[in-house]
Amino acid sequence: MVGSGRLAGKRVLITGTAGGQGAAAQAAFVREGARVIGCDVQAGAAERTAAALAEQGFDVAGDTVDLADAAAAARWVDESAERLGGIDVLYNNAAGAGFAPFADMSLDLWKHVLHVELDIVFHTTRPAWRHLLATGNASVINTASMSGERGIAPLGQAAHSAAKGGVIAMTRTLAAEGAAHGVRVNAISPGFVKSPATDKFVGDELRAFQMGMHLIRRPGTGEDIAHLAVYLASDESAWVTGQNICIDGGVTAGFR
Ligand SMILES: NC(=O)c1ccc[n+]([C@@H]2O[C@H](COP(=O)([O-])OP(=O)(O)OC[C@H]3O[C@@H](n4cnc5c(N)ncnc54)[C@H](O)[C@@H]3O)[C@@H](O)[C@H]2O)c1
Repeated sequence: MVGSGRLAGKRVLITGTAGGQGAAAQAAFVREGARVIGCDVQAGAAERTAAALAEQGFDVAGDTVDLADAAAAARWVDESAERLGGIDVLYNNAAGAGFAPFADMSLDLWKHVLHVELDIVFHTTRPAWRHLLATGNASVINTASMSGERGIAPLGQAAHSAAKGGVIAMTRTLAAEGAAHGVRVNAISPGFVKSPATDKFVGDELRAFQMGMHLIRRPGTGEDIAHLAVYLASDESAWVTGQNICIDGGVTAGFR
């Protein structure tokens, strides 16, 4: 079923659709009429997310892919473009993680985090670029973080913040390169969002600390983020490019 919504007919790739923000985005996008292929490194998980939506009649699929493997990522992008007949939207949501206080951070951990948070954005966007240029009206959405905007001590986020800062900088440059070809590129920087990742890494004490920093004192949800992603994917945002939009309960704005 291709709906008549705000994304009617858009051919979309979303990475990291096992759960969290990626799964919420996939559901929101198909309800707005997009055709979506998702992927995730967790075996069978993207397939399960997609199957639940396909049962409701939506045009959606999911694949198991490790985007840290550049060749596998390129294969997935090209095969997906063939299945959809092109790509209008690439939503780079997937990221791995890795934290350590800087005094304990090994070079191996530093390189690993940059690989699974920054390199994987290159791994999908580089092969997708020619497909996006070919449509002449395309949108790339990259997921950065409040950690790319603010220095945050708890957890040990130096590598994470460097990777997400890289995503923000790359977003601006790709927006500049893509503008003449009708390709818009924007980043979303979430604050603290409830997800399988934060459930795993963030204990009660850190969760309370994080909530104390947000002006709006509740964790974000995948749906909060998906509303912005739908806007950035749609033609409603036709004059928006090169932006890093913080959707974060006000955490980067101030304190109370
Ligand atoms: N949750 C937060 O508080 C928060 C805050 C700021 C930014 N973010 C960012 O939001 C995005 C979504 O995260 P989330 O909160 O939904 O957490 P999440 O961990 O549930 O989602 C990330 C998904 O990406 C997948 N993934 C990781 N590495 C992959 C790889 N190599 N190949 C394919 N899939 C891979 C994971 O399996 C997972 O399903 C991430 O980029 C994350 O860094 C999250």
